[in-house]
Amino acid sequence: MTTVNIMINGHAHGPTDVRDDLTMNDYLREYLGMTGTKFGCGAAQCLSCAIIIDNPDGTSSTSPTCIVPAVSFDGKAIRTVEGHAKDGELSDLQKAFIEHFAFQCGYCTAGFLNEGQVLLEQLTKTPVARDDLEKTIADALDSHLCRCTGYIKYHEAVRDVILADSKRYLVENKELNLRATRK
Ligand code: FES
Ligand code: FES
Repeated sequence: MTTVNIMINGHAHGPTDVRDDLTMNDYLREYLGMTGTKFGCGAAQCLSCAIIIDNPDGTSSTSPTCIVPAVSFDGKAIRTVEGHAKDGELSDLQKAFIEHFAFQCGYCTAGFLNEGQVLLEQLTKTPVARDDLEKTIADALDSHLCRCTGYIKYHEAVRDVILADSKRYLVENKELNLRATRK
């Protein structure tokens, strides 16, 4: 047994004694009742179980939870799907997923939502050119599987959120930059 303390969606959880082989997925779902994080393949292949890690350097990243032990998250700050809405208001990404009918069964949705959110946060720090946006979104969502084949809808939803606030997430197109340097 190991004692863990984990910050989840801004709330401290622990100290809690857990078995060393308890997965983070089971910790969230069985210990904390946070069932928004799903269990799909159980083999780090589909990422329906992905959560966000807030890294000490201010960046964020995603991690599967199905094969990763809860003890490896000790002392870390993470976010789950339950943390996206604020004061009952869905996030822009959540609203876009709904507007695009991106999901059907919804089993993969938390993973896509967390990955999309991490992408938004990365673009806030390192914007990309509009010309590179489609590939950037595709690369970010690439490892997530959706058995209901909502891929294009998820992609379009993420793109809409980015384009709705393009000054924040994008830099000038390469084409425009090229023209500017030729002048
Ligand atoms: S359930 Fe974790 S990657 Fe599929
Ligand atoms: S919405 Fe069903 S698996 Fe993606």
